[in-house]
Amino acid sequence: MSTIARPPAAVMPRWLLYTTALFAVAVALFSYRYLAPGMQAPPMIQANAYRAPWLFIHAAGAASALLIGAFQFSTRLRARRLAAHRWLGRAYVAGCMVGGVAGLVLAIGASTGSVSTAGFGLLALAWIGTTGLAWRRVLQGRLAEHRSWMVRSFALTLSAVTLRLYLPLAFVLPFPFAASYGAIAFLCWVPNLVLAEAWLRRS
Ligand code: HEM
Repeated sequence: MSTIARPPAAVMPRWLLYTTALFAVAVALFSYRYLAPGMQAPPMIQANAYRAPWLFIHAAGAASALLIGAFQFSTRLRARRLAAHRWLGRAYVAGCMVGGVAGLVLAIGASTGSVSTAGFGLLALAWIGTTGLAWRRVLQGRLAEHRSWMVRSFALTLSAVTLRLYLPLAFVLPFPFAASYGAIAFLCWVPNLVLAEAWLRRS
């Protein structure tokens, strides 16, 4: 009997998976500081026209999505605790939607100019869109597509991590801060999405 040869499924190296999860958890927990009463944001964020109450709402929703998302790709959790995966999934979607809407409002109020408004604004729309599609697909029972849209959604959630990795560049590069920050508003998510897409095509 002949067997059909299948290409090996693309598996993410464990070290990369764990490092990403570690960064995600660290950035999420650190971001919860904005929920503490009287927490002062850095001057650039203070200058955001819609800081209150949207920064609080954004930090609560987006940081929760980042924290939960770090565990949702565990095959072990899905296999052993499917009910937990489903409840955490609902919380992840809620976090993305709340964090995304608030992120969109903050993008409009950004004090660093129209390029950062465009970068963060498009990110918010893409985040809401990919997460909404992932949610719809699971309700329709289209699990393979649900997984693909969740990979795209979490690649965008990880923009919170990549942004903080690139941010020091804005202080050292010989360009005006607003220009570097505007570039980072795109750089923090477009390559993430391209990499996620390439990985999905391989697997
Ligand atoms: C993925 C979609 C996201 C969008 C569109 C977005 C958008 C924004 C915007 C526009 C600001 C204000 C920047 C300014 O005024 O210059 C901001 C700040 C902030 N965001 Fe997000 N964000 C997203 C994801 C996340 C995630 C996943 C987290 C989770 C940790 C997060 C945590 C924060 C925090 C803590 C701040 C306050 C500034 C700081 O301390 O760095 N964001 N975000």
